[in-house]
Amino acid sequence: MEYGYPRGHVFYRKLTRAYPMASHGEGIYLYDESGKRYIDGSGGALVVNIGHGQKEILQGMTEQMGRLGYVHGTQFTTKAMEEYARALAEVLPKGLEKIYFLSGGSESIEAAIKLARQYFLESGQSQRWRVVARWHSYHGNTLGALSLTGRIGMRRPYLPLLIDFPHFPPPYCYRCPFGLAYPECELECSKALENVILMEGPETISAVILEPVIGATVGAVVPPNGYLSSIRKICDHYGILLIDDEVMTGMGRTGRWFAVEHWGVTPDIMVLGKGMSGGYFPLSAMITRGEFVDRLKRHPLARAMRIDKVRLAGLAATLTHYLKGEALGEIPVWRMISAPLEEIDERARLWAQSLGGLARVVEGETMVGGGSLPGGALPTRLVAVAGGKGKHRNVVEVLSQRLRRRETPVVGRISDEALLLDPRSVLPEEDELVLKALQDAAVGLEHC
Ligand SMILES: Cc1ncc(COP(=O)(O)O)c(C=O)c1O
Repeated sequence: MEYGYPRGHVFYRKLTRAYPMASHGEGIYLYDESGKRYIDGSGGALVVNIGHGQKEILQGMTEQMGRLGYVHGTQFTTKAMEEYARALAEVLPKGLEKIYFLSGGSESIEAAIKLARQYFLESGQSQRWRVVARWHSYHGNTLGALSLTGRIGMRRPYLPLLIDFPHFPPPYCYRCPFGLAYPECELECSKALENVILMEGPETISAVILEPVIGATVGAVVPPNGYLSSIRKICDHYGILLIDDEVMTGMGRTGRWFAVEHWGVTPDIMVLGKGMSGGYFPLSAMITRGEFVDRLKRHPLARAMRIDKVRLAGLAATLTHYLKGEALGEIPVWRMISAPLEEIDERARLWAQSLGGLARVVEGETMVGGGSLPGGALPTRLVAVAGGKGKHRNVVEVLSQRLRRRETPVVGRISDEALLLDPRSVLPEEDELVLKALQDAAVGLEHC
């Protein structure tokens, strides 16, 4: 039986789509009610970091459920929350130590906006409230988070409701907004931040927010070296806080616990979500420096049902799973970006080959990911196929259909770009399945 609009009473995310009924999951596979198997090629919205069907998480949650359902955050703490916070603090960048648990990425972004505001209220700088964000960014879909999000099409219908936050261009070397090339550009894209700050008035700005590797909007775009430290310097110079949105890139997704670590930059506020719970329950966190919390006279964040203790028990089990790997490289996490240079080179070549026809049609050259990380790693696992609009809009649609029509379909996040992940560290051989499926699906696409 097929499900979807207009049948039934569910208000579906896609009103034009027929949905299979998901029945269960295991490792990188999902199964529908007829027993058909799918490769979960992107962990949903890059959420499922540690594979489906992890029994220890279910066990942790069931045990806690038997003991306790709900307690309010102003009345009790719990062992699960204390232990998880202690373990997470050990892997956080130095200086970040206070963790506020919430239930979703957008919600934690809202919390970051408010904390930055509260910080300046407590510091006697009440005129500072505006957060500067980048175009082509994604920070969530609630009204505050959408006000930061730089995805124009998503913002347009709601413009009258949005907060007046300034934006500046992203470090998108593939289509440099300034028509320049790195390194001769001398990081014009970071200087653009300073221009915006000066135009808007530094005394009105509380924070700058960015995704260290741009995720959903342009597809794994890695900033050029020197970019993040230059942004940090500009923030320091004007007394502005730096908010690091690691909802997509955090918890090992880029081969380090947090993507900012590739460049040795420490933010003032970090936001986590998605892979933090491996998708087993809605969870996010807003994390900040101890001295900021010391300074607070009033708590800016009150919620009756933020993250309950049952889910935190599952969360403790999730973290235990993460910490199983002794070295970071052994953490069993689905990666967006990973692996040493020699290996990546070969894989990058394969990705490029498999997408070559498609990429040539679209852009006149092959594109794999958006740049390389320090040390040479490429974001080969998150492949961005640009230009799904206009003349070649069919191409990505055909790719998507072909991946879905396979005997074991690959489900990924495919719209005008394809986001597919590396599940290799969950089940080594499965990675090749995603790669092979993509290669097969790309054959002859240049004629579409
Ligand atoms: C970088 C980033 N920030 C924030 C969000 C919002 O998270 P959520 O969808 O859990 O509200 C997302 C979700 O895609 C994201 O990728």
